[in-house]
Amino acid sequence: MAQRGKSKIKYVLFLILKQPDKKTTSNDGEVRKKKLSRWARCCFILLAVLIIVSLVCTHDLIFNISHYVARSWNISQPEVRHIGFLKVHKAGGSTIQNILFRYGLHRNVTFVIPKTGYKFSTPFSKTTSILNNKRGEYYDILAIHSVYNETSYSRLLPADAANIAIIRNPLELFVSAAYYHRDVWHVPYLKRVPTDNYVQNLIRYPELYDNQVLSLTRNSMAMDFGFPSDLHPTEESVILNFLNYLDKRFDLVLVVEFFTESLVLLKRLLHWKLQDIVYIPQNTNTHPALPELNLTSSDVDKFELRNFLDKKLYDYFLKIFKQKTHAAGHDFFEEVGHFENVIANVTAFCVFKERDGSEMVVPDSYWSEKFAVKPSDCREMLITELEYIDKIRSKIMPTLRGLTTKYWTP
Ligand SMILES: *[C@@H]1O[C@H](CO)[C@@H](O)[C@H](O)[C@H]1NC(C)=O
Ligand SMILES: *[C@@H]1O[C@H](CO)[C@@H](O)[C@H](O)[C@H]1NC(C)=O
Ligand SMILES: *[C@@H]1O[C@H](CO)[C@@H](O)[C@H](O)[C@H]1NC(C)=O
Ligand SMILES: *[C@@H]1O[C@H](CO)[C@@H](O)[C@H](O)[C@H]1NC(C)=O
Ligand SMILES: *[C@@H]1O[C@H](CO)[C@@H](O)[C@H](O)[C@H]1NC(C)=O
Repeated sequence: MAQRGKSKIKYVLFLILKQPDKKTTSNDGEVRKKKLSRWARCCFILLAVLIIVSLVCTHDLIFNISHYVARSWNISQPEVRHIGFLKVHKAGGSTIQNILFRYGLHRNVTFVIPKTGYKFSTPFSKTTSILNNKRGEYYDILAIHSVYNETSYSRLLPADAANIAIIRNPLELFVSAAYYHRDVWHVPYLKRVPTDNYVQNLIRYPELYDNQVLSLTRNSMAMDFGFPSDLHPTEESVILNFLNYLDKRFDLVLVVEFFTESLVLLKRLLHWKLQDIVYIPQNTNTHPALPELNLTSSDVDKFELRNFLDKKLYDYFLKIFKQKTHAAGHDFFEEVGHFENVIANVTAFCVFKERDGSEMVVPDSYWSEKFAVKPSDCREMLITELEYIDKIRSKIMPTLRGLTTKYWTP
C-alpha cells in the first residue's frame, strides 16, 4: 500500500466508472451499467484521465484523502490482511493490537512474533529472533512493539501491506509512560526520581534524571517512529523532511484522542466489517490525572521544549488525521456515532451480562449486517497483550520447522 501510485489510479477509475450510488440496489446498478453507451464510457474515461492528471499535478495529500472520500469502499472488495502496525508505547496500541490479533487468528494469518519476549528492537536490545513462518517469505501481520525501520518492515511484510501507526497527546503519553515504566518495569533511571511531585521533577531536572534526546520519557513517540537521536529543536527542515518521509510510508496514523474516528477510518482503509473493529474500552490508568500533577505553565513549556520531536510529530499527524476525517464524506460521523452505540452495548453486555451464557445481537443497520457477540468474543477482547502474544506463540510453535530463520536487526 505504501507504493500507492497504480492502486490509487485504479481506485479513482473505480470510483468514476463502477461506483453506483450506495443507496441504489445492486440490480439498479447492473441495469444502469448496461445502459451506458460506449460514448458515455469514453467520456467518463477522458474525464477520469483529466482528473487523474490534475490530481497527480497537485499534492500527494489529495491522494491520501481520496482513499476516504466515501464510505463507498466496496465491501466485497478483498479485505486487506497484510498489515504493519507500529505499536507506539503508551498510545492505546494494545487495543488496536488486540483487534489485529483477533482478526488474524480467526483467519489463520501469519504473525511476526519474537522467539522470546514481547517486543522488537528497542534501543536496549538490538537483535531479536523471529519465529519461523513456514508458509513463505513474508508474514501477514506485524503488531508487536517495534521501532520503525523501513528495511525491517519491507523484509518481513509484503509490498502491499498497509502501514498503520498511532499517536497520542505528548504530555498525556509522557505522564502515562513515566508511571508505567517506573511501576511495571522498574526502569532504573525513573526509580531515582523523587516520588513527591514525581512528574514535575522529571520535567524540571532532566539533566539529573533523563538526559537523552530520545528515551522512554523523552520524545518516546519519535523514538518508536525511528527518528534519528541527534536532532536539535532548531533543525526544523530536517525534522519536517523526516515527517514527510514517514507520511509517505504510513497509510494511516491513528489518534488516541479520536479513537472511534480512528477505528472507523481503519475499517474503511482495510475494507473490514464493523464487527472486526469491535472492542471493549479498558481504562488501565493507574496514575494521577493531569490536573493533580501540580504542573505550572512553565513546566508545560519546558516539557514541550524537551519533547520537541513528539510535539512536532503529534501536530503534524493530527492535522493530516483531521483532514482525512473531514474528507471522509458526510456520513463518516454518522458511522462513528453508530459505532459508539455498538461499543456501549457490547461493553454493557460483556461486562454485566456475559455470565448468562447468552449472546447479544447487534441488529443490522446501514453500516453492517446483523452480527452476534458471544461470551467467547467478550473473553477474547479482554485478553491482555502479553497473554495474547504467549497464546499465539504456543499456537504456532508446534507448526514450525526450524525455530527461527529471521532476525530483527536494525
Ligand atoms: C464490488 O466488487 C465486487 C468484486 O470486485 C463486484 O462483483 C461487485 O459488483 C461490486 N459491487 C459494487 C456495488 O460495485
Ligand atoms: C491454518 O493454516 C495451517 C497452515 O497452513 C493449516 O494447516 C490449517 O488447516 C489452517 N486452519 C484454518 C482454520 O484455516
Ligand atoms: C501536589 O502537591 C501537593 C501539595 O504539595 C502534594 O501533596 C501532592 O502529592 C502533589 N501531587 C503529586 C502527584 O505529586
Ligand atoms: C443498543 O442497545 C439499545 C438498548 O437495548 C438499543 O435500543 C439500541 O438499538 C442498540 N444500539 C445499537 C447500535 O446496537
Ligand atoms: C534500518 O535498518 C538497517 C539495517 O537493517 C540500517 O542499515 C538502517 O540504517 C536502518 N534505518 C534507519 C532509518 O535507522
